[in-house]
Amino acid sequence: MKRSLSVFLLLLAGYAQYAGAQQPVDSLNEQQRLGRQVLAQACGVCHLPPARNARTYGPSLNKGAGGGDEAVVREYILNGTPRMPSFQYFLQPAEIDAIVAYLKTVPVNK
Ligand code: HEC
Repeated sequence: MKRSLSVFLLLLAGYAQYAGAQQPVDSLNEQQRLGRQVLAQACGVCHLPPARNARTYGPSLNKGAGGGDEAVVREYILNGTPRMPSFQYFLQPAEIDAIVAYLKTVPVNK
């Protein structure tokens, strides 16, 4: 019984790997993927919900952030607000570009 379970799990793992190789996990390009990663690391604590329907400290971020204006989003990231830290000296310009590029791929209401 135990043995057949582990064989099943092995098969399952093999299938997951196969499926993963067949389909890209997402349609993001390299820059957008970097942006998603930096966002999760630097901004997630305030902007990403830890669980479904959990409330976050900051507003949820998507392509509508900053009223949909890229310059406004950069302004937030560079200068922060009284409630949000500035990232001017913490992030590289390329990382900020990446975040902006990634946010454009995030639909509103997600
Ligand atoms: C300490 C918590 C905190 C962190 C970390 C943080 N933010 Fe914020 N952010 C906020 C809060 C709070 C607001 C709402 C504005 C306010 O009340 O000052 C906000 C607002 C924003 C807005 C404007 C949202 C809108 O609806 O227009 C953007 C864009 C933004 N943050 C981007 C970022 C990015 C990108 C990062 C990471 C580099 C980040 N924030 C990190 C707390 C944070």
